[in-house]
Order: sequence, then C-alpha cells, then structure tokens
Amino acid sequence: MKFSLVAAVLNIAAVQAVAIPAEAAESIDNAGPSGPVQINVPKMMTPKYRPTAKRAIIRYPAFTLQAKGKAKSAMSMDPNGQSGTFRIGAGMCSKCTLLSAHYRLVSPEGNEVGPTDGVYIHHMTSHLSPKTSENPISGGIPSIGAGAYFIDRGEDSGQSDTVFTSADGRFESGYQITGTPSVSVSYDFVNYKDTPRQLHLELEYEWLDGIVGKDAGHTLKTVAGNPKLMGKSVSTPMRVSKDTTIMWARGHLHQGGVSMTVKVNGAVKCVSNATYDTAGVITSMSLCPKAIDLKKGDSMTIESDYDTNKHKLREASDGHGGSAHGKLGGSDVMGMVAMSYTS
Ligand SMILES: *[C@@H]1O[C@H](CO)[C@@H](O)[C@H](O)[C@H]1NC(C)=O
Repeated sequence: MKFSLVAAVLNIAAVQAVAIPAEAAESIDNAGPSGPVQINVPKMMTPKYRPTAKRAIIRYPAFTLQAKGKAKSAMSMDPNGQSGTFRIGAGMCSKCTLLSAHYRLVSPEGNEVGPTDGVYIHHMTSHLSPKTSENPISGGIPSIGAGAYFIDRGEDSGQSDTVFTSADGRFESGYQITGTPSVSVSYDFVNYKDTPRQLHLELEYEWLDGIVGKDAGHTLKTVAGNPKLMGKSVSTPMRVSKDTTIMWARGHLHQGGVSMTVKVNGAVKCVSNATYDTAGVITSMSLCPKAIDLKKGDSMTIESDYDTNKHKLREASDGHGGSAHGKLGGSDVMGMVAMSYTS
C-alpha cells in the first residue's frame, strides 16, 4: 500500500512549461566560445534575468529510452512509458542563488527532442539536497526522500524556465544552495517509435554566486484527484501558515485543458491559460501576471477547467484513443499550478 501511495504521489506530478521564442532556443550554440557541451561540465551562456548572473547548460551522461512497448515500467502512467530516477548535480554551483532552471532532453548531437521526434515527456519532477523543505502553503507534492522540491517539466513545452524570482528577474529572491547539490529527478518518458534512442538530460540554469536576497522555494499544487474532462475541478483548500509572496506561478494542464485558476479566500488572483498549436498540443501556459501576496491564515484553492469538446485528449502510446490510462487508474489529465514563493 505504501508503495502505491508513493507511486500515486509521483505520478500526479506531470508538468509542462512555457515555450520561449525560437530565437532564444537558437542561442544554444554548441560551437560557441567555450566549445561544445561536455558531460558534467557547464557550458556558459548569456544570462536572461540579470546581467550580473551566470547561466550554463550541463549535459548528463546518456541513457537509453527503450523502443515503444519495450520499457514496461510499472510506475509509468502510459502503457508503454519508461519511468525511473536520475541522480544529477555534477558541475552545478555549490554556494549560490538560482534564478531559473529547466530540463530538456537532447540527442547526442545536442538537438532537443520532443513530440515531433516521437519522444513524449510525461513528466519530470525533482528534489535537491542539501536544502530544507519548507512549504508555507499546505498540500502539494510532498518531499520524497532528502531535500526540497526543485523543478519539474512536462511535455508540450519547448524551452522553458522555472523562475525563482519574478519573470522580469527584479524580485530579490532566488533558490539558495548552501552545499554541493545533489538532485534526484523522477521521470516518465514515452517513446512512440519502434527504435531505442540514446538521450541526454540537460539542465540549463541561471545563478548568482553566493547567497543573495530572500530564499525561494518551489511547489506544485494539484486539484483533488483527476480533473473532470468537462468543466471545473477544484483543489482542497490550502492553508497558508505564514505571510508569503508567490512571485512566479504557472498552470499545468494536459491536452483538453483550457485554464488553471488560483484563488485566495475565494477571490481570483490569476488565470493561467493554455495555448494550443494546430496539432492540438499545448505549447505554452501563460504566467501569472503579478506577484500574489498571501497572509498567514489565508486559504488558497486552485481550479482546473477542461473542455474536451474543444481540445481532444492525448493518445496513449498503445493507440488508445481518448486518454492514456495509467496503471493507477484514471485518465491522463492533470490540473496543477507550479509556484515559486518566499516568506
Ligand atoms: C486568461 O484568459 C482570461 C480570459 O479568458 C483573461 O482574463 C486572463 O487575463 C488570461 N490570463 C493571463 C495570465 O493572460
């Protein structure tokens, strides 16, 4: 029973992120001044959030994504998914303040792979240690094992940052790291093709050396159970244990979803909207436009809105129309909000 509970908790954590414009994606220059991206070695990039920050890509050793139907991971939410854990962190800064971070999958040549290559990132979630897990807003994905919740990533997202300051980089906060970091990444991937693939996980992140500003945490909140496929589903009320600011937040939905709403004491604070491409895939979720201030004792709820008449559900890799049924039951739909906060 305990195992299935942990599995359930891991499996609700599927998150997708905002696509950034193509010109930014092209700034990944394998042959730039510091040479090609090497395993476990940071390749420096131009910072995006603060001119004084550093930004780098770190590529981790290759792994094999098994051919379609060959993975058979008990914990995958897709019938043919492959799930597991990566341990990364080599090459990261160790006494520093992170402004942003994100994961991507690349081929050995360094090209990002995604749905058009037959690779679907159902989700990645991660925890970083050493870091104290302190969450002033009750609920969310509990910390499994050591450390604090770090970042997540889902499909349909392109290049995307999780941000630990405001989206413009001005809010004086960051995800502080006080010792040599170790990151555990839980993943669930699907190969839609009949050939295995060698892939690398890459972390791209931006940081300031030293401990700067207020310490940020990150959390992922979900509606109760699987969202309804038509209309609204709400979370259980989440109580705020101390005054807190959410300086960055973004909804997460799967295909079929329209928007995620954040409410505080019943008042709407943010509606994060899905944008779809012509193939019916979500390419971005809008960010909450401004910081959300919470007071001790406040009650937060989040709400998903699905319309599967307007947007069809994703097909599972076994060709099931409608939806991908996970081993744990339920449709492959999510209603979540990722939030960076400081208190
Ligand atoms: C999402 O769409 C609604 C209208 O449907 C709009 O009021 C809201 O501002 C949008 N949210 C964002 C973050 O743009």
